[in-house]
Amino acid sequence: MIFPDALGQLESELAEKFGADGLSRAPDVLAEFAADESHASPVSPQLVFRPASEEQVQCALTLCSRLKIPVTPAGARTGKSGGCVPAAGGLSLGMERMNRILEISPGDMTAVVEPGVITGKLMEEAEKQGLFYPPDPASLRECTIGGNIAENAGGPRAFKYGVTRDYVLGLRAVLMDGSVLVTGHRSIKGVAGYDLTGLFVGSEGTLGVVTQATLQLLPLPRAAAAALLTFRSLDDAADAVTAILLGGMLPRTLELMDDEAIRAVNGQDAEFPPNAAAALLVELDGNDEAELAKQLDELSCRLPAMNCAPASLEIARDDAARERLWQARRSVSRALKSQARFKVSEDIAVPRSRIPEAIRCIKAIGRENGLTSAVYGHAGDGNLHVNFLYGDSRLTPAAERAIDALMRRTLSLGGTITGEHGVGLTKRAFLPLEIDARGIALHRQLKAALDPQGLLNPGKIF
Ligand code: LAC
Ligand code: ZN
Repeated sequence: MIFPDALGQLESELAEKFGADGLSRAPDVLAEFAADESHASPVSPQLVFRPASEEQVQCALTLCSRLKIPVTPAGARTGKSGGCVPAAGGLSLGMERMNRILEISPGDMTAVVEPGVITGKLMEEAEKQGLFYPPDPASLRECTIGGNIAENAGGPRAFKYGVTRDYVLGLRAVLMDGSVLVTGHRSIKGVAGYDLTGLFVGSEGTLGVVTQATLQLLPLPRAAAAALLTFRSLDDAADAVTAILLGGMLPRTLELMDDEAIRAVNGQDAEFPPNAAAALLVELDGNDEAELAKQLDELSCRLPAMNCAPASLEIARDDAARERLWQARRSVSRALKSQARFKVSEDIAVPRSRIPEAIRCIKAIGRENGLTSAVYGHAGDGNLHVNFLYGDSRLTPAAERAIDALMRRTLSLGGTITGEHGVGLTKRAFLPLEIDARGIALHRQLKAALDPQGLLNPGKIF
């Protein structure tokens, strides 16, 4: 319970120290901070504070600890598991004003950034110096590095390049007692002590508030091409994924879209051939055009040889054509939502050898529960976005049954309940199916060590 006076006290102390600029109780602002892009029920904070410096974050957390006010950090609120929904009310900490790229170092191949930097902006700035920041969540034009770190965001290029955690070398994070924890190093390698950086990445804003990150960059690949392959059946597309994986090819993305996903975006940015029952978006990169041509050849020879020839194959070589295909792929999630009015969106992941089986299971679960299902996403990683679509604003019993069946089936295939969106609020009930009692107890011990009063982003994960 929050004491009514406590919020007034918090607001007046922050206003006195830093001015009223970053503070808001306006109903429209509170409403913005109540939700993300998941199906988690919105909860309004009572106050929003947008700190402009690490010192302001320290002050806010110290005050919240003293006044016993829950505090929930938020990035661009594009998350898919309710991570930034202030489940216990209190203060929302909007990190968007801390949005400076402090340094891009071609010599060290690192970037030092504040958490509110938009991911796509960092990519662009790195590219200007011949460098590459690979993690590419679908919301990259809006989402922030801080949010990506909180959720350990992935994206299509994770297939070749890994996820956010693989690029975070070090962090500065403010803890609930107001102290600043500094983790990691600026060198590419470093094994001193426990991997606290790794612990913070993916901790869903429950352990501390990241105020600065040192990120690893790569040399920018000199050439890239995308191939859009369509198939007469979803099974053919699933077999093609296996054929590409077994062939030892390493494209930078291996993305799947089923017929529902195709229908949702067809005609916007990309035109799919009529009757395409599934598609793969395969992007390749390399050092020069000759290397690309070799990979494209291999792709077009390998699939017919493995009896999963595509029905059509379109190659996009220039940046504009590639970007159009990606724009279509990145808008699948929002297009499905606007089409069905309501959907639940999951992001299970299975071991690679189980991908075709997982796809068949997903479709069967949809049919058994009388729900339209869409499956798309990062098939090469076995990380599949499963959407069950329905017209009701509440989570219907059929949708609940379908999610339950999906989680249990995924785990029986050796998979995980979340490959990249996090547990947050929406998958909390399923975590004990994946992590046993000892594991959950250790989570609680770690949480208590850093946030003994349980005030930072309460109600999340476990
Ligand atoms: C995507 C989001 C849903 O891959 O993760 O489109
Ligand atoms: Zn995704």
